[in-house]
Amino acid sequence: MTTETKPSYSPGLAGVIAGETQICWVDPNAGLMYRGYDIHEMAEKASFEEVAYLLLHGELPSFEQLGKFTREIASARSVPKQVLDALRLMPKSTHPMDMLRTGVSMLGAFDPELNDHSHDANIRKSIRLIAKVPTLITDGYRIAHGEDPLPQKEDLTLAGNLFYKLTGEVPQDWQIRMMDTILILYADHEFNASTFAARVTASTLADIYAAVTSACATLKGPLHGGANEESMRMLGEIKTPDRAEKWLKERLAKKAKIMGFGHRVYKKGDSRVPIMRELGRELGQRVGKGQWIPICEKLEETMEREKQLCANVDLYAAPVFSMFGFDPALNTPIFAASRISGWCAHVVEQHDHNRLIRPRSAYTGPNLRPYPATPVR
Ligand SMILES: CC(C)(COP(=O)(O)OP(=O)(O)OC[C@H]1O[C@@H](n2cnc3c(N)ncnc32)[C@H](O)[C@@H]1OP(=O)(O)O)[C@@H](O)C(=O)NCCC(=O)NCCS
Repeated sequence: MTTETKPSYSPGLAGVIAGETQICWVDPNAGLMYRGYDIHEMAEKASFEEVAYLLLHGELPSFEQLGKFTREIASARSVPKQVLDALRLMPKSTHPMDMLRTGVSMLGAFDPELNDHSHDANIRKSIRLIAKVPTLITDGYRIAHGEDPLPQKEDLTLAGNLFYKLTGEVPQDWQIRMMDTILILYADHEFNASTFAARVTASTLADIYAAVTSACATLKGPLHGGANEESMRMLGEIKTPDRAEKWLKERLAKKAKIMGFGHRVYKKGDSRVPIMRELGRELGQRVGKGQWIPICEKLEETMEREKQLCANVDLYAAPVFSMFGFDPALNTPIFAASRISGWCAHVVEQHDHNRLIRPRSAYTGPNLRPYPATPVR
């Protein structure tokens, strides 16, 4: 057996630079920028469409470009009837993330440009995906609950339609603004697990739908996007702020992982938390559900003292979604309705400058040994 020098190894690829990107930078010291723009101001002022355009094209849109992009998304929202019929065939108990993954995979078969990986075709397909992923989520959810999907409202933006098609209520301006902020905060996060999965898939020159299917599958896990659903489960269990400290200490004593805490890159705080926390406070006052944010704050305070671990955005996203009236099972799909913009931008970038992503593993199995003279039959 030939030997080779062992390449350096970092468990979980922690700290490893696995590629270059011009799309997003996560600053370990609690910062985040998309294409050079700090997210904080955009989260407050921009529309999700504007940020999606920035991620895809690299520059902010002009007024005309934004109008055209918004119209293109609006006109691409519907999904083929066959896809909705397929979602109807899934068991009613199917998790919305599994419905979404299945729906995205099937959508690929209906895209006439599926196998064209040129930059322009990938951008066109990205627009279709950004438009259709929210529809798969809203329509899939209604179908699973025995209801007919609602038709989209032409005059509402992506954020507005997402809210409307889930709740059946036309959102007020402040609700649309909040929804835009949430979607902007979740839009991209450089080489997070689902984006990396998308890039690995795209690097084989598989199509963008294949890459996004991988991403959806990866986002579902509770150590990644699934954490915002699990966080809500945790808050529901704690119930009131005065129970938070005791609850947390008991879990930590049992070495349990606490959802909504910790991060691979941020060690001094998640850049998105202050905005999501503030949004949660405002929403709590508006809808009269004051208990959730104080529970989160008590958990933060205790976690800092006990483990020096910071909250991540999913801790506060959970009560925000709950106060909007969304079923916790929709928390991760709503994350996906935003992150689809980042996934697509990364697939476009990967295909534009492709090199197969294929790392090595450190072999820890048995040394070379003889195969038995008498094989087992
Ligand atoms: C996000 C996450 C997967 C990062 O994992 P990671 O980079 O491998 O974690 P670290 O190496 O920084 O962990 C350092 C220590 O903190 C602990 N830790 C990290 N996150 C923790 C959490 N949420 N609850 C309890 N302990 C945690 C680890 O167990 C480890 O302890 P040890 O040294 O005694 O083994 C992890 O923090 C986690 O599981 N968080 C909960 C899920 C979540 O909220 N995910 C959404 C992320 S945006």
